[in-house]
Amino acid sequence: MLRPPETFTTARLTARPPAASDAPAVFAAYANDPVVTRYLSWRFYETVPPLGEFLATRAETWRTGDGQFGWLLHRRETGELAGSIGVTLQAHDALFGYVLGQKFWRQGLMAEALRHVVDWSLSQPEIYRAWAFCDAENPASARVMEKAGMQREGVLRRWHICSNLGPEPRDCIVCAKVK
Ligand SMILES: CC(C)(COP(=O)(O)OP(=O)(O)OC[C@H]1O[C@@H](n2cnc3c(N)ncnc32)[C@H](O)[C@@H]1OP(=O)(O)O)[C@@H](O)C(=O)NCCC(=O)NCCS
Repeated sequence: MLRPPETFTTARLTARPPAASDAPAVFAAYANDPVVTRYLSWRFYETVPPLGEFLATRAETWRTGDGQFGWLLHRRETGELAGSIGVTLQAHDALFGYVLGQKFWRQGLMAEALRHVVDWSLSQPEIYRAWAFCDAENPASARVMEKAGMQREGVLRRWHICSNLGPEPRDCIVCAKVK
């Protein structure tokens, strides 16, 4: 079964698997922020313990290798927790998702992280498509995908529920890099 590297570094970031003990730092960095989580599938966390449970399941994934892998991203210079990025590996494609604390927005950091994992995925013989989608009203995320080398393919109508915005599936922009 295909497994990504557990750690990686880019020019300004280091990445490593999460642990339940990261919950207070993740809570403070981005998971408690309704602005950050506005277009994500999960509701922002109001307390730390359920986040710890979630991070424990994410940590377990690295042991079971069930196809979904997440990393926490830290600034190399300061060691601060900046955000996270994850990939779902399927037979021939890699689907990415990502989030960054507001303090770290607009510095090109997520494009840097995404480009790294996209290029890793497409260097695997069995992966032909690296892709991601974002809410149609989240242009910063669409731009990150383009900056990471993906091309905009179109709009998936009524594709994804943003729990913070209501129960109905919303239109999404889909981007991909293929080989
Ligand atoms: C989306 C997100 C990851 C972007 O991370 P980032 O590190 O700030 O992104 P970058 O700095 O690499 O690039 C952002 C690009 O979007 C552009 N941008 C930012 N806000 C924008 C807006 N409101 N409208 C249009 N473009 C915007 C920036 O100008 C930049 O493009 P440029 O370099 O060509 O100027 C970050 O804003 C975030 O975590 N948002 C909340 C979580 C989220 O929505 N995740 C994605 C779910 S699909």
